[in-house]
Amino acid sequence: MLRWYDANARVLPWRAPPGSPPPDPYRVWLSEVMLQQTQVATVIPYFEKFTARWPDFASLAAVEDADLMSAWAGLGYYARARNLLAAARAVAGEHGGRLPADEAALRTLPGFGAYTAAAVAAIAFGQRAVVVDGNVERVVARLFAVADPLPGAKPRIRDLADSITPDARAGDFAQAMMDLGATICTPRSPRCLLCPLADRCEARAAATPEAFPVKAKKKARPVRYGTFFWAERDGRVLLVRRPDTGLLGGMRAFPTGVWSESPPALADAPFAADWTLRNATVRHVFTHFELIAALATATIGGHIDAPDGEWWPIADLDSAGLPTVFAKAVKAIGRSE
Ligand code: ADE
Repeated sequence: MLRWYDANARVLPWRAPPGSPPPDPYRVWLSEVMLQQTQVATVIPYFEKFTARWPDFASLAAVEDADLMSAWAGLGYYARARNLLAAARAVAGEHGGRLPADEAALRTLPGFGAYTAAAVAAIAFGQRAVVVDGNVERVVARLFAVADPLPGAKPRIRDLADSITPDARAGDFAQAMMDLGATICTPRSPRCLLCPLADRCEARAAATPEAFPVKAKKKARPVRYGTFFWAERDGRVLLVRRPDTGLLGGMRAFPTGVWSESPPALADAPFAADWTLRNATVRHVFTHFELIAALATATIGGHIDAPDGEWWPIADLDSAGLPTVFAKAVKAIGRSE
């Protein structure tokens, strides 16, 4: 794997070249948080923007929550952004601006689960740690033809990954496994002829690499219905901030009704106005449900009993850092270019 990585490592902005000293731990950590549940190609421009604006823990720790949430908009899974800030403040305030260099100490910081702690310990500090993300899971499940279904097979897959992790260059090894999973040992149509592990791969020997990892049947994602409320006055639209906990916590948003299991009426409007239901909806897939949102608009004249919020210039909505689901609503209403 290390020989393969020396010749084939992807060049990525948070990486050091194979075999060279580890990169800046701040950049490793930031990239690993961004890469959880998000593709490399999506992360790269965010990573460049964040590191240009906030090059180290101290500058990130000093950011206002709202600015960070806006900059994160579009990456999704917003709890990651809140933890990112909490961890930066802990590192700047309690650890002298440096990440602790071992896996157990890293685990005590906000947002550091088993994966992130192992990845940072290995990649940023050259420690031997067993790094298992979705790509590594697939490579290992195929290499050893693990027959138990995920997620129950996770401990076994981790033990098998442990059994092949070298003492030296554990960070390069981890990233080699990730790159193999991303480019060769892909979920569909793996390119086994190019794989450095082909000779030892049990799934390939059985001619069924795509059958692994075996997965338990997933329950269908439920559908929820809701309404987004666009209240406009003098070229501005009302934005509120969502509660810190829960879906899209801390993000700017349009006022919404509650989510329900059947299509809503306007009865749950957050305040009285002359609402018109638009002939358009927004669909968005979240981890645990799919949302179908109706759109209601109103032009506000006189005084209204609106919730606390900001009357945001409509021409400038791009800079509000709206999460994707609300950016879709702006488009559906026909107010973005
Ligand atoms: N996915 C998660 N961490 C990664 C890394 N360091 N390189 C490439 N893909 C990744």
